[in-house]
Amino acid sequence: MIIAIDGPAAAGKGTLARRIAEEYGFHHLDTGLTYRATAKALLDAGLPLDDEAVAEKMARKIDLAGLDRAVLSKHEIGEAASKIAVMPAVRRALVEAQRAFSRREPGTVLDGRDIGTVVCPDAPVKIYVTASAEVRAKRRYDEIVGTGGSADYAAIFEDVKRRDERDMGRTDSPLRPAEDAHLLDTSEMSIEAAFQMAKSIIDAGLSRNA
Ligand code: C5P
Repeated sequence: MIIAIDGPAAAGKGTLARRIAEEYGFHHLDTGLTYRATAKALLDAGLPLDDEAVAEKMARKIDLAGLDRAVLSKHEIGEAASKIAVMPAVRRALVEAQRAFSRREPGTVLDGRDIGTVVCPDAPVKIYVTASAEVRAKRRYDEIVGTGGSADYAAIFEDVKRRDERDMGRTDSPLRPAEDAHLLDTSEMSIEAAFQMAKSIIDAGLSRNA
């Protein structure tokens, strides 16, 4: 059983995916972390972000068991990740590892940008989580300020839009909803409401597949 969750940056898909995995007792993989870990390894080694062969080699060394969200969540790492994510050889390497993960029993929840379209096109349940760029920027702003940091809303908003353009505009596996994905617009929804909606979509999918 595979649950595919896609959507743009800061749409809340990570939080949703974690809760769903907990609810159903499934393994969860935030595939964004695999791109982030590859980018961080390159940055740490002082290697360039624009050499596809070097980046692919690094991508093949990533250990899914060692992905640390706290270390990888930094803004600069996200930016670097979206740059190497345009490279087909990097995507091929990471998608192989993601597919192997998706086959774990009793089931898996994968979240990212291309799970329903490329990584697991046969997933029986696909959800595309979105929210307006303004709402996503505001959530990220509140999160930073809420944890005692200082943030500039206008800069975050520009950043969200730039990331969307890069993710939706790339040639290899651009961000888009799969044809059979359920759209979940959380612009005017609490996390709890989004979770309940997702749960009813999944329960319907599970009973169809039972
Ligand atoms: O979701 P997150 O912000 O952690 O992802 C970082 C970057 O990794 C994204 O902006 C995107 O470019 C890339 N990514 C991707 N495909 C995925 C997951 C993430 O291209 N399945």
